[in-house]
Amino acid sequence: MSTRVAVIGATGRMGRLITRLIGESDDFEVVASLDSRSDLSQMRGADLAVDVSHPAASGDIVEFAIQAGLRVLVGTSGWSQERIARLRPLVEGREDSAVIIVPNFSVGSALGTALSEIAARYFDSIEIIEAHHAHKVDSPSGTAVRTAERISAARAELGPVDAPHNDQRARGQLVASIPVHSLRLGGVLASQQVTFGGTGETLSIRHDTLSDDSYERGILLALRALPTATGVTVGLDALLDLGGAR
Ligand SMILES: NC(=O)c1ccc[n+]([C@@H]2O[C@H](COP(=O)([O-])OP(=O)(O)OC[C@H]3O[C@@H](n4cnc5c(N)ncnc54)[C@H](OP(=O)(O)O)[C@@H]3O)[C@@H](O)[C@H]2O)c1
Repeated sequence: MSTRVAVIGATGRMGRLITRLIGESDDFEVVASLDSRSDLSQMRGADLAVDVSHPAASGDIVEFAIQAGLRVLVGTSGWSQERIARLRPLVEGREDSAVIIVPNFSVGSALGTALSEIAARYFDSIEIIEAHHAHKVDSPSGTAVRTAERISAARAELGPVDAPHNDQRARGQLVASIPVHSLRLGGVLASQQVTFGGTGETLSIRHDTLSDDSYERGILLALRALPTATGVTVGLDALLDLGGAR
């Protein structure tokens, strides 16, 4: 029997991709397709909800789905640590619901962040440059924010990175003490480079998204993890077997 999925944001770029992937799978079926004009109650009766809508709407959508007893996969951006902290008590202890938040469905991007976390303790100068298409409304990107937070956490015992002259706007926005530089360009889909400066050497960990196809593996991985998930899980890396990589 297939798992019944409601897609919220179904008319959008990600919603159409997810609808196609589910249509091609043997284990899932789309039973409700919602857009900005839909009544959220249309998701009732599904087993899972996938939210790929808009940052301003995502909070209410996820809360509705939890109250309706659905398990939820969130791909929408804008889920800060504070928002996630407010979500946890709504889900924890409930057997009928769980939330997986995946700010970036690309496996390569998740590995880039994990590798940056490893390098974090060996360099004191660390900066992030991210580039996205010109229509992206938020900056820095959620992936850059999460990468900076993870690098900072890995360096907790070492303290903040060296980021001189960061009062100057051109030095980027500090996220968890790390300067992040956001480019919004025609011709680009998504790209992120973390550069580590050491003594007489630099290390760059760069990931480029070349097409939306890069999200397919991560979307299916997260969908298949959802039926047995509990509480709130954040990041594709939590679903990948990174073994001794950390
Ligand atoms: N996790 C990842 O890997 C990943 C990758 C790419 C993008 N994203 C994020 O995913 C989200 C969607 O991106 P996209 O490129 O697919 O956007 P999009 O093409 O603009 O589509 C947005 C979708 O959300 C719907 N929507 C807007 N407001 C809504 C509301 N209040 N209630 C319900 N549905 C609403 C839209 O419906 P209408 O057609 O009625 O307007 C449309 O179906 C964004 O937050 C984006 O940053 C995540």
